[in-house]
Amino acid sequence: MIVVTGASGLLGAALVRSLRDRGEQVVTLVRRAPRSPDERFWQPAEGVLDPQALEGARSVVHLAGAPIAERRWTEVYKRELVRSRVDSTRTLVGALRELPRRPEVLVSASGVDFYGDTGDRLVDEGAGRGEGFLAGLCERWETEAREAEALGMRAAQLRTGIVLSGRGGALARMLPLFRMGLGAPLGTGRQYWSWISEDDWVGATLHVLANPGISGPVNLVSPSPVTNAEFTRTLGKALRKGTMPMPVPGFALRAGLGEFAGELLSSHRLVPRKLEDSGYGFAHTGLDAALRAVL
Ligand SMILES: NC(=O)c1ccc[n+]([C@@H]2O[C@H](COP(=O)([O-])OP(=O)(O)OC[C@H]3O[C@@H](n4cnc5c(N)ncnc54)[C@H](OP(=O)(O)O)[C@@H]3O)[C@@H](O)[C@H]2O)c1
Repeated sequence: MIVVTGASGLLGAALVRSLRDRGEQVVTLVRRAPRSPDERFWQPAEGVLDPQALEGARSVVHLAGAPIAERRWTEVYKRELVRSRVDSTRTLVGALRELPRRPEVLVSASGVDFYGDTGDRLVDEGAGRGEGFLAGLCERWETEAREAEALGMRAAQLRTGIVLSGRGGALARMLPLFRMGLGAPLGTGRQYWSWISEDDWVGATLHVLANPGISGPVNLVSPSPVTNAEFTRTLGKALRKGTMPMPVPGFALRAGLGEFAGELLSSHRLVPRKLEDSGYGFAHTGLDAALRAVL
């Protein structure tokens, strides 16, 4: 049995679908009254989780967290972003501690934002923490998740890049403008975007779950990051639409989106070292093919 948190989200729903298709029993932790025998109640930020909900689990996948890109980052919302990730992880590990027989692994979400702005430098899991709010959040989130190691469990943190999905997330937010031919590079357009197709995100997560040799941070990104300008061109072509020649200036993005704009302008040029070294075979290594598959 596998327990999943954040199961109603973009990635959680895709993972749960795939696990159930493979015949796995999946139990999801929900923040409302359970509606099926496969659901268990928890209040992640308040420390409420009956350890019995996790009994018999072989693995736990923790994806819950308040949405990063959907609201302006006021100080209040930043606290919510942190609480929903760091406190929820503490709640989960606290319940795992109470179990007489614990699952083998806690796989938990994190982001490429851990590395901050890496410029043109190629970065693997050995690189240190960067600057910025999300880098600090990822570090606290991962530190909390690694507490599972003290319980004798394997712990892996998925440093996920931009997941390309037709159902939601960053790509779905970009599509309306691109479909009108209004897509444009952001800032200089020279910042790298490390992306991964939804299929590969699910495939790589299953790979991490199944491989006892994989632990610690794992970059969930394709092996071919592209600059934002190239991403813009490729998405325009995949939609058979032109794109705007003029970039959206950084100051305009900051005025419109606030502090979150910094994340769109930051460069993440990542190498999926642990996935490659452990033999994961990507379904999509080129952006063009990945976008065509998703769209
Ligand atoms: N998608 C990406 O490109 C991407 C990239 C990097 C990192 N990540 C990280 O990967 C995780 C999953 O991503 P996703 O795209 O599936 O996110 P998502 O669609 O926003 O789903 C996250 C889920 O977390 C739960 N949640 C929402 N607000 C919460 C709160 N205040 N407290 C506790 N739980 C809350 C919800 O599930 P329930 O209602 O079922 O509890 C929600 O469906 C997130 O932590 C995200 O930060 C995603």
